[in-house]
Amino acid sequence: MHVLGIESSCDETAAAVVTDGREIRSSIVESQVEEHAVFGGVVPEIAGRSHLAAILGVVDRALDDAGLELAEIDGLAVTSRPGLIGSLLVGLSAAKAIAWARDLPLVGIDHIQAHAYAATMETPLDEPAIALVVSGGHTALYDYSAPGEQRRLATTLDDAAGEAFDKVASMLGLGYPGGPRVAQLAETGDPRAIAFPRYRPKPPVDGGVAPLGFSFSGLKTAVLYHLRGQDALAPTPAPADIADAADVAASFQEAVVDSLVRMTLTAAEREDRRVVLVAGGVACNRRLREKLAVAARAAGREARFPSPAYCTDNAAMIAGLGYHRLAAGHRDALDLDASPRS
Ligand code: KG4
Ligand code: ZN
Repeated sequence: MHVLGIESSCDETAAAVVTDGREIRSSIVESQVEEHAVFGGVVPEIAGRSHLAAILGVVDRALDDAGLELAEIDGLAVTSRPGLIGSLLVGLSAAKAIAWARDLPLVGIDHIQAHAYAATMETPLDEPAIALVVSGGHTALYDYSAPGEQRRLATTLDDAAGEAFDKVASMLGLGYPGGPRVAQLAETGDPRAIAFPRYRPKPPVDGGVAPLGFSFSGLKTAVLYHLRGQDALAPTPAPADIADAADVAASFQEAVVDSLVRMTLTAAEREDRRVVLVAGGVACNRRLREKLAVAARAAGREARFPSPAYCTDNAAMIAGLGYHRLAAGHRDALDLDASPRS
């Protein structure tokens, strides 16, 4: 079954053709990053308009690359939640129009479930697993039992990990998007140079085990105070005046990675899962990939990451999960709505 997937939840316009949920025939991602960079983050109105300009061309290219005509497509999968509402509506409307014109089945897909599914596309999964979805908008752990079936175990109390990377990048004058730039600068820094805090949930006062959870706002504030020299009222120094920027980047990254590794392996132990899946933009992070792989192995477990192209937003993961929904007989009607929430 050839499924055409469409993704437009944030600032990438993407379309892909995937056969039988696994064989990626094409995957086109058109990034709007340059349009948003001058504002230091995604501007929803600009994102919506750019999706509108790009969407049909992106779909055409996905079909071309796959070597297929629209007439050969068997079904449509489109991200319908969560995301920026004006952005979601563009992809959703395009998918509905194609489904209606060609009389094709349509399914709406949850973006977070699709990120987790991405970690199973290249290496098939035949046992339940823990899934860490770690991106610019989300940082959460799930007990993953099958494509699209996952129970949330923990989330972040405040920022997503990718958001923290983006904010620290901005403090260091590295520009937007920050994650890859902080990671690159961190390569030349010492991860032990500065002892930034790692959030650890406390056990309940009446006893029992500590809950699972993430928090990155304290860490972000600690970076800010480090840069200002502990003076709350001091201005943040200009990037050129930050002598230890590489050490800050490396020590910050280490604190994020340590929290992610610790919580993920705690969840795997509590749920007795051998495999941990990691997906979302921050799953591109080399230090996270290395440390989690080593720590998982030491605990008798296995960490699996998608290739970097399928960690960040893409439509192959939407088409892939869409196949499983369609094959199970699921159909959405043309009144399917978009939602900013999962
Ligand atoms: O999954 P994604 O493309 O979009 C969302 O659904 O949010 O993730 C984007 C996020 C951004 O915050 C970006 O800074 C972060 O992933 N990111 C990274 C790296 N590559 C992307 N963070 C740390 N290290 C990286 N190498
Ligand atoms: Zn995403």
